[in-house]
Formats: sequence, structure tokens, C-alpha cells
Amino acid sequence: PQLLPRCCRLGCATLRISVLINNQVVGVGSGSTIVYAVDRLAERVRQEKLNIVCVPTSFQARQLILKHGLSLSDLDRHPELDVAIDGADEVDASLTLIKGGGGCLTQEKIVAGCAKHFIVIADYRKDSKALGQQWKKGVPVEVIPIAYVPVSRAIARRFGGEAVLRMAVSKAGPVVTDNSNFILDWKFEHAQNWKEVNTAIKMIPGVVETGLFVGMAERVYFGMEDGSV
Ligand code: A5P
Repeated sequence: PQLLPRCCRLGCATLRISVLINNQVVGVGSGSTIVYAVDRLAERVRQEKLNIVCVPTSFQARQLILKHGLSLSDLDRHPELDVAIDGADEVDASLTLIKGGGGCLTQEKIVAGCAKHFIVIADYRKDSKALGQQWKKGVPVEVIPIAYVPVSRAIARRFGGEAVLRMAVSKAGPVVTDNSNFILDWKFEHAQNWKEVNTAIKMIPGVVETGLFVGMAERVYFGMEDGSV
């Protein structure tokens, strides 16, 4: 529970740092941290009468935008975003991210890729020297359902470790993404060249996207334990 006010400050701070100016198209990420940023975004839109258009990265983000009465759009109408703001599961020293703990990695990567600036907000526990030191659940990989076994085997054969089908908690069976696909969580054994790994995994037939975000984040703001950013 102590994390909540920290995250709140984090959201406030992020949006104060002038990534947000009037008449912008903003990509809204998914997860628990982004909720605080959207709270603050909505407050600023109300107080400063800003004209901001929001593009969601998931069903959750869409609901969040609607709940706050923000202007909802999509990539058909706004294929070029000024800024995308999202959380992360882990961030290494080169700002390579693992994302997709919430299963929304594909839309998150699409939206971030359409943005001029991709800004990440996370709490201090996501800050890592090398991927795998903090986030122990592995790299999420979204796959076409019929391909989950061959993809899982191909990843393990080529890169080691184990790629496990993510199972739902409150339903019997696998997690199904917003795109009606499955998620494999690849528990890797050692640090790798993440750019090469990302490209190689994407080449496996049946893979939709990986949760490795390489060379995408421009800045990462960490909310620290003492409330500073
Ligand atoms: C959703 O698919 C994820 O990529 C989230 O952005 C990421 O897991 C961060 O989530 P939290 O803010 O809940 O830690």
C-alpha cells in the first residue's frame, strides 16, 4: 500500500516535466502505474483546459481514458503521437525494457513506436543493471494460439531457458490477450544481446510480438522509496 502515494507522486512528476503541452496526442500505457499518470493528466486537462487526445494501448487503458472523460482516439485517426507514456516490468542500464506483465505488450509496442517520445514511469524496484535481476517472470511473448508449443520449443532450443504458457488466475485455461492470442513467459538463463534476441524471436512463425523494448524508451522516471523521482 505504501507504493500508492509514491506512484501518485511519480505520475504527477512525470507530467509536470513538460512532456505534456497543449494540443498533443498522447499514448496511454497499461498496468497499475499508468493509472496515477492518467489521474494527473485528467486533472491537468480539467484545470488548464488542455486539448489532449489519448490513444490507448489496451482495453484497460481505453476504460481509464473513458472513465476520466478524456478524449479517446485510435491509430486510424491519430497514427502519429506526440508522446506515449507507459510503465515497465524491468528497465536495464541501456533503457531496454521488459514489458507485458499485464499482457498488453503488442499494442504497447505499436503505440510507443508511433510516438515521437516514449516515456516510461516505474517504481524503483524496476530499475536493474541487467534484465532478469529484478523481474523474475521472464520475457512475455505474444503468440498465435495454435503455435504456442512450437514457439516455446524454438525459443528454448535457440536461447535456453524455458518458455511457459501463461495461465489465467480466475479462469481455467490460458491468459487470452486483447488480440485473442496467448502469452509465453520466457524464463531466460543469462543476459543476452537483447536486440538480436528480440529480432530472432520475432522471426519464429507464430510469434506476434515480444515484450523486449530495445532502443525505444527515451527517458525512464523512477519513483524512489523516499517519494523522490
Ligand atoms: C502491461 O502489459 C505491461 O507492459 C505494463 O506496462 C507493465 O507490466 C508495468 O505494469 P505496472 O505499472 O503494473 O507495474
